[in-house]
Amino acid sequence: MYPRDSRVGLNGSGLLIANPPYFTLERLQAWLPELKSCLAVGPAGGASARMLSQSELMGTALDQYGVIGHPVGHSLSPFIHGMFARDCGQNISYRLYDVAAAEFHERVRAFFAQGGRGLNVTLPHKIRGMEVAHELTPRAAHAAAVNTLAVRADGILGDNTDLVHDLCDNLGLVITHRRVLVVGAGGATRGILGPLLGLAPKVVVIANRTPQRAEDLAAAFADLGAIQGVGFGQLEGAPFELIVNATSASLTGVLPPFPPSVIAPHTVCYDLAYGKSSTAFLEWATRQGCARALQGWGMLVEQAAESFRLWRGVRPATRKVLAALKERSGST
Ligand code: ATR
Repeated sequence: MYPRDSRVGLNGSGLLIANPPYFTLERLQAWLPELKSCLAVGPAGGASARMLSQSELMGTALDQYGVIGHPVGHSLSPFIHGMFARDCGQNISYRLYDVAAAEFHERVRAFFAQGGRGLNVTLPHKIRGMEVAHELTPRAAHAAAVNTLAVRADGILGDNTDLVHDLCDNLGLVITHRRVLVVGAGGATRGILGPLLGLAPKVVVIANRTPQRAEDLAAAFADLGAIQGVGFGQLEGAPFELIVNATSASLTGVLPPFPPSVIAPHTVCYDLAYGKSSTAFLEWATRQGCARALQGWGMLVEQAAESFRLWRGVRPATRKVLAALKERSGST
């Protein structure tokens, strides 16, 4: 149907590259309807399509989104949001912003002042993210950390999207009336405690290498449900139904010093970390005979889907994206 030597495609930034002599605007739009707003009419009054310059894209054509962190080169968010946008038939631009702490406020303000619509905020800026928001969702306020910023009529909204969608909807876990152990008392734990307690577990125990941090965190969330903070040495008693590893130990292959008694054959173990191969925690949990050992891929995608919903008003389907992401990363 099209000449064999015609070329059309998307480059890594999502810019349309076409070979105008062979493609009329009409043909391109029929073939790639989701790209309609990327196309511009050529000088011959519609006879050809041309590629828009980056500045034109920035200026008018596409709503601007991105992830701000340091470093962000490894981020999978552009891939995920690119797939969401395609699946939802939407045109957006999603870029990486590698910004050091000292420039964070200025760069975020400039992004929104230039018409940017939303940002994901990642390490090490999640607490700083709170400072640039004019309003916080209750879960972000409780977590005292923000992973999503979105433009609203009266300012910038800060939210902290969460993992319960993955636990409940994708994995079918029941949290209500169950004993949950969260390992670690850093920023990642802060982000998940509110949503977990919202599901009314019997108790959430936070265990941390530095017990005082676990105790402080438990005190900060005590108004939301039954919660206690302990050191690893105090982790005796009945096993847990769910264990979530939210330490950064996974990133260095270190296993926190759990007593084996925390795991029973029905225990589900979830590591917020994700990667090509299993984590030290999940390998250990599998050797102890846990029911399921799960990496945090699902949380990554569900958090992104919540951001997308906040920005675009539609929640994208996640199953296909999750499968594509695992395949792309060679995860087993
Ligand atoms: P994040 O924002 O990713 O949670 P963080 O605030 O630095 O990062 O928190 C890291 C968490 O991992 C902390 O709970 C830390 O324990 P401490 O509070 O005692 O520092 C935990 N952690 C890091 N390395 C660990 C290790 N080797 N063994 C056990 N816990 C570890």
